[in-house]
Amino acid sequence: MKRVYFLLAITAFGMNAFGQKTIDQKVSELLSKMTLEEKVGQLVQYSGFEYATGPQNSNSANVLNEIKQGKVGSMLNVAGAGETRKFQELALQSRLRIPLLFGQDVIHGYRTTFPVNLGQAASWDLGLIEKSERIAATEASAYGIHWTFAPMVDVARDPRWGRVMEGSGEDTYLGTQIGLARIRGFQGKGLGNLDAIMACAKHFAAYGAAVGGRDYNSVDMSLRQLNETYLPPFKAAAEAGVATFMNSFNDINGIPATANKYILRDLLKGKWNFKGFVVSDWGSIGEMVPHGYAKDNKEAAEKAILAGSDMDMESRAYMAELPKLVQEGKVDPKFIDDAARRILVKKFEMGLFDDPYRFSNEKRQKEQTNNQENRKFGREFGSKSIVLLKNEKNILPLSRSTKTIALIGPFGKETSANHGFWSVAFKDDSQRIVTQFDGIKNQLDKNSTLLYAKGANVDDQDGSMFAEAVETAKKADVVIMTLGEGHAMSGEAKSRSNIHFSGVQEELLKEVAKTGKPIVLMINAGRPLVFDWAADNIPAIMYTWWLGTEAGNSIADVLFGTVNPGGKLPMTFPRTEGQIPVYYNHYNTGRPAKNNTDRNYVSAYIDLDNDPKFPFGYGLSYTQFKYADMNLSSLNLKGNQTLKIGINITNSGNYDGEEVVQLYIRDLFGKVVRPVKELKGFQKVFIKKGETKTVSFTLTPEDLKFYDDELNFDWEGGEFDIMVGTNSQDVQTKRINWLK
Ligand code: BGC
Repeated sequence: MKRVYFLLAITAFGMNAFGQKTIDQKVSELLSKMTLEEKVGQLVQYSGFEYATGPQNSNSANVLNEIKQGKVGSMLNVAGAGETRKFQELALQSRLRIPLLFGQDVIHGYRTTFPVNLGQAASWDLGLIEKSERIAATEASAYGIHWTFAPMVDVARDPRWGRVMEGSGEDTYLGTQIGLARIRGFQGKGLGNLDAIMACAKHFAAYGAAVGGRDYNSVDMSLRQLNETYLPPFKAAAEAGVATFMNSFNDINGIPATANKYILRDLLKGKWNFKGFVVSDWGSIGEMVPHGYAKDNKEAAEKAILAGSDMDMESRAYMAELPKLVQEGKVDPKFIDDAARRILVKKFEMGLFDDPYRFSNEKRQKEQTNNQENRKFGREFGSKSIVLLKNEKNILPLSRSTKTIALIGPFGKETSANHGFWSVAFKDDSQRIVTQFDGIKNQLDKNSTLLYAKGANVDDQDGSMFAEAVETAKKADVVIMTLGEGHAMSGEAKSRSNIHFSGVQEELLKEVAKTGKPIVLMINAGRPLVFDWAADNIPAIMYTWWLGTEAGNSIADVLFGTVNPGGKLPMTFPRTEGQIPVYYNHYNTGRPAKNNTDRNYVSAYIDLDNDPKFPFGYGLSYTQFKYADMNLSSLNLKGNQTLKIGINITNSGNYDGEEVVQLYIRDLFGKVVRPVKELKGFQKVFIKKGETKTVSFTLTPEDLKFYDDELNFDWEGGEFDIMVGTNSQDVQTKRINWLK
């Protein structure tokens, strides 16, 4: 007993049970020594000077001086063991020797790049996704990086928005699971470990719902929709201990996210009890002036800090304005203290006060980046992200002894394009990429020939290179066309109103198709594209996104059948742009269209079917999976019971393969209308040919909860459809009754 009192006494003096000071105590002590300016300094983040990921303001001489004066808390876009060390040395010249935090966009790999994030999501493989972030964190931390601005957990239903490439697609449940896997991967065994970097849930919030899919545009939606569809991945990230959050550029119902008290203070820091810090997006504090929400930077700074934005990325508003605002009594210093505390806590947790240079290690940088093991993983991940959309007459897989294959299209010999957008760490090393041509060539038999013709550049407006492509196709037994959109046509500020193949690529495809040669089409893109003609006329199509460093090998593994594709679409693919937004979990409306022919006074277009070109969750395999009838533990449930769902799946084809089994529900009637389908679970199972596996799911009332119009989160008793299937359209259904 005495001992307990003794320990408690120590803790009361700010020490932990072992007689050491807690991080909180250390931060309090530090804060008590800091001037107002030094505290505000912790809230300032600038970009380095070598390259920029936004409209850069920085004047390098000033920034370097400000670091020495303790007026900067963090830098982004400063990377490399040597470079980070140089900046850290400046910070350690400041009065209180507070180290800098180095942040960077580590989005889909670092030195070894992996598929763009939407492609990764198509793997529906949480284990692979987590591992990819583990590798990215190991590589980035060896480059002196402490913090990634990822994962982007914005739900997005509009493929015109260029940033869909960076997220997990249209579904809240899938997006939440993937976001959590990424955070586990980045933060590893916990902050303080040398291979763990801080993750950042972004962009808070609803950035993916920008009107018209135009980047940075406004968002206007009910709070019910916001809470139900767009916020769950963020809430889950906060609960899982993500270190930081980032604001979004958009306004939500008229209030910019950066100064949105409801989402930042009431939800994130209030209800969700988030203890990390919030960084603004690039310049988003200053952008509240053009938004029309603040008359100048001063008012913007005031609104942002009061709402709960802790760190100012590149607006240069906090340092210039917050000290004045405090002195004028407009901002209570407790808000500055709270923001500075949150940031300093993370610096302590990362171990930077023990050794500010611990991440800047040249030896680790050399050994742990882009090594064979990481690349081997990248190759596997790439092949598992590919989605097979069509395979008539089993053209695929190709035989390695096919006598002559022609590879045609702008991406065949591309190098850095395969990285995709958001690959900030590889400006200078395109030679490390395995091109599609090389990947295929390396797997062809010695006596076979691989021909190549570019056919068109990504944005060509004329067909001057068509003739050569057609001649090349004529010499081949099989033609592989590699088409799509340029790698920099998706990503930030890359919204497109026309999401067909760019330039004249579709015409090129039509010309080559006239040769009558069997064609395998590979589509390179960061978003769902519209390719109606190809989908109807080309017998084999695989969606290859941008697969990263090992792209060529991953593609060849699937083309020649070393890997049986098992990816499934994480977004609905529209028939035309006019159908957007189109997503699987829509409401039924009062006049649902029953079929594609009766369009009389129903919710339909008179000139377009309602169903998409390819549904959410869709993807084929070289083998076939047969679903037996599902078994339900009961058709009538009550209260807190659990529903068990079991289903036997047989691989009845000729290849071993993986299937993503998907569970959807529909709540038939409610206080507010419910979607026609909601994904509630999925499992990726490997089934050998000829084998049968049982896949099981459980549902509890927790899975039936939704937000009503007063934002109560609860479930209602009644009838539910339980659906299991291979994609969101092909499902079998059983109806149950679940009373409260
Ligand atoms: C993007 C963020 C990114 C930041 C820093 C912004 O323009 O919206 O997602 O993390 O720049 O590069």
